Amino acid sequence: MSSLSASPDERLAVRVKNLSVTYRTTFERKPTLRQALVRLGRGQRSVREVRALRDVSFTVFEGTAMGIIGANGAGKSTLMRAVAGILPPSEGSVEVWGKASTLLALGVGFNKDLSGRENIILGGLASGLSRRDVEERADEVADWTEIGDFIDMPMRTYSSGMSARVAFSVAVHMKPDILMVDEALSTGDARFRAKANEKMAELRSTARAMFLVSHGLNSIKEMCTDAMWLDHGALMMRGDPEVVVEKYKEFTKVKKSAATEDEV
Ligand SMILES: Nc1ncnc2c1ncn2[C@@H]1O[C@H](COP(=O)(O)OP(=O)(O)OP(=O)(O)O)[C@@H](O)[C@H]1O
Ligand SMILES: [Mg+2]
Repeated sequence: MSSLSASPDERLAVRVKNLSVTYRTTFERKPTLRQALVRLGRGQRSVREVRALRDVSFTVFEGTAMGIIGANGAGKSTLMRAVAGILPPSEGSVEVWGKASTLLALGVGFNKDLSGRENIILGGLASGLSRRDVEERADEVADWTEIGDFIDMPMRTYSSGMSARVAFSVAVHMKPDILMVDEALSTGDARFRAKANEKMAELRSTARAMFLVSHGLNSIKEMCTDAMWLDHGALMMRGDPEVVVEKYKEFTKVKKSAATEDEV
């Protein structure tokens, strides 16, 4: 992972080469009741490996709005985390020219005991803004969420849509070069979605590039200039959103999924 200011080709925004990410989780295998009695309750330690991304390579040029589609568990969020620099590659490399929007954009990193406003300030600092910049912008970010008095309540009292509003607002207001939105819109209501779509359209012209993960295939077609389809960690296809979405839909139909246009 590297964050660079000058790219070899001026228009390059993100370059991912042979990226693989493997999660390793150690867990205690639950013994059956009988085994537990025999072995006095001692579990067996096991390691489970998930190859979440397998040899993924692509480049993204300035001005691209990249949609990422694929089934649950396909590796979309993992790819976003790797591009945002939160997750180191197990193999391969990720190069990003500019500042990717923060953890908060991906819905993690909030301290639930702090208020929305306090999290906005922390989020701004975490994304590299100066204290002054953050203070200047905090009210605007808070107002944009339109969650009223809740903004000064601890975030553990928020509905998931309210949290999504805060996450999205932080992400779009901190002037990222690379804007990353991972399903932040899925829990929002109709009004919030409309507002968020408008904001993203505006940012598309100022941000260097944008990544949007969504199960809403129509949003991908409407908002993105490019699309990638991931399946079991592998990049199946990259290209025009209309074409990629069609192929993906054909593929899920073949797999006899009961998926509908906007809930794949
Ligand atoms: N922190 C983690 N530890 C272990 N395994 C993980 C972790 N995060 C994700 N995985 C696994 O990696 C794979 C890819 O997960 P990922 O969250 O990237 O999928 P996704 O495409 O974003 O799915 P969704 O559409 O459900 O959000 C899955 O098999 C998942 O179980
Ligand atoms: Mg995900």
